[in-house]
Amino acid sequence: MKKLVWPLIIIFFLLGGLAAILLGQFILPPEPRPETVEAISEQWSGSAHADSEAESFVHWDEDDPPVISTSCAKCHSAYGFLDYLGEDETEPNQGTSTDNEANTGSVVSCFVCHNDSAHVKTSAYFPSGETIDTLEESAICAECHQGRRSGLDVEKSTVNLPEDEVNEELGFINIHYKIAAAVRYGTDVITGYEYPELSYSGFFNHVEDYQLCTDCHNPHSLLINPDECAACHSEVSDYGDLRDIRTEDTLDFDGDGDTAEGVYGELTKMHDMLYSAIQAYAEEVSDQSIVYAFQNPYWFIDTNGNGEADEGETERANSYGSWTPRLVKATYNYHLVLEDPGGFTHNARYLIQLIYDTLDDLSEVVDVEMSGLLRPE
Ligand code: HEC
Ligand code: HEC
Ligand code: HEC
Ligand code: HEC
Ligand code: HEC
Repeated sequence: MKKLVWPLIIIFFLLGGLAAILLGQFILPPEPRPETVEAISEQWSGSAHADSEAESFVHWDEDDPPVISTSCAKCHSAYGFLDYLGEDETEPNQGTSTDNEANTGSVVSCFVCHNDSAHVKTSAYFPSGETIDTLEESAICAECHQGRRSGLDVEKSTVNLPEDEVNEELGFINIHYKIAAAVRYGTDVITGYEYPELSYSGFFNHVEDYQLCTDCHNPHSLLINPDECAACHSEVSDYGDLRDIRTEDTLDFDGDGDTAEGVYGELTKMHDMLYSAIQAYAEEVSDQSIVYAFQNPYWFIDTNGNGEADEGETERANSYGSWTPRLVKATYNYHLVLEDPGGFTHNARYLIQLIYDTLDDLSEVVDVEMSGLLRPE
């Protein structure tokens, strides 16, 4: 008998081990496998946030002394963002300013988003003074992707002035760059210049699992995975198709009869119409032809009157100078659309409303064909 005990004990343990493995494999849920830090670092390294050569991070290098001012440091420097959050020796801030100027030489590094304050932050304060407190982990993104101006700044600069009189005090108001969060929340944060007595869309309520910045953008590579969109939007098979997305509620806003194009197409065609209307207004009312180029200060005199932004015209010395209140409002709304390349997904309805109303406003003084256009509800 004694001879049998040891083999039995061994078999018992072997069977037990096997059972434990099977249990682990099939019955208990698998342990989540977090991405490795190496993989995450690699994704981040290829992103715009890590691009240490980008104008966003080297703009202040040649200044004397080379420091980033308190009104720019929050978004253009890791040191500035940590100062803003109160992760340095200073108190947390609200708004744009940091307590101190920041040194140059940093990017949007891991520590910007991974520190005690960032991890519990759920709200962001926007340039209009509005606060959104349902941002969850997107609050950090919203602090930098909110622009520097709101529709209220446009209102303030033009209030009580005759709409069509050129005024030397006026100038172009630039909302600033990559303003995704400001567009996403629309009228909730008064991003555009909103014409009086009209109602505008707030947050674009997409679908439950694709609402936050990081639901759609990988927080490290910043990329969108089109396969995820394809699950609901059958027109998508690769990245290039995102602009073809159209839903049941997407109407023929631009009135071109094409009800198969994506909401991107509806938006872009109306935006092009707005450019023509702005040019007509400048020529007929401000009495100086205007062209746009996507470089500071954006609006230039169309010296040769051919309607195109030619080389030689897009110099700072040739900046546009005949501003009226109506033109300040129209150019602000025109430019902001271009500052959100994802606007067609972030909140197409709000942008189309702004374009429609700007066209409608210009149509009071110049010819604009409004009859086919639809304003989103
Ligand atoms: C609320 C955040 C925020 C603040 C404050 C801010 N910026 Fe920016 N800025 C951005 C973002 C986001 C971009 C990214 C643009 C891009 O992808 O090129 C940017 C881009 C830029 C660029 C690069 C434009 C280009 O051609 O690529 C310059 C220059 C710049 N900002 C200057 C400034 C200055 C000067 C200040 C302070 C007076 C300032 N910014 C304040 C968010 C901000
Ligand atoms: C722009 C902000 C931002 C930056 C910069 C950033 N992260 Fe993240 N990271 C996030 C967010 C947001 C999450 C949460 C993702 C989620 O829950 O889906 C996250 C998640 C993580 C996780 C957990 C991943 C998991 O699978 O659970 C790790 C680890 C991590 N980040 C490491 C890093 C490292 C290392 C860097 C620098 C190379 C970095 N992060 C830079 C925003 C950022
Ligand atoms: C500290 C400020 C800051 C924070 C926080 C931040 N960003 Fe950015 N982001 C920038 C700047 C500045 C750029 C432009 C960098 C460049 O020009 O290379 C940028 C670029 C981007 C781009 C790419 C734009 C392009 O030109 O390709 C995306 C997408 C983006 N950010 C999304 C996010 C998301 C999502 C979050 C939150 C998880 C976030 N950002 C958090 C400042 C920030
Ligand atoms: C429903 C999905 C979705 C959500 C939510 C979302 N985005 Fe986007 N985002 C997109 C798409 C799609 C694009 C356009 C990509 C393209 O065409 O290159 C984009 C573009 C961008 C860009 C411009 C990138 C570039 O190449 O210039 C930035 C910056 C950005 N998003 C930031 C954000 C931030 C910040 C948030 C949260 C406030 C956010 N996004 C929320 C889908 C989303
Ligand atoms: C779970 C299903 C689902 C997923 C996944 C999904 N969407 Fe959507 N999407 C919808 C629905 C439903 C609507 C209509 C919402 C409405 O109009 O109220 C919509 C609307 C849109 C619109 C049209 C907005 C308009 O104003 O006409 C765009 C653009 C869009 N989604 C882009 C994306 C992108 C990009 C992704 C991937 C990052 C994505 N969606 C993932 C369900 C989804």
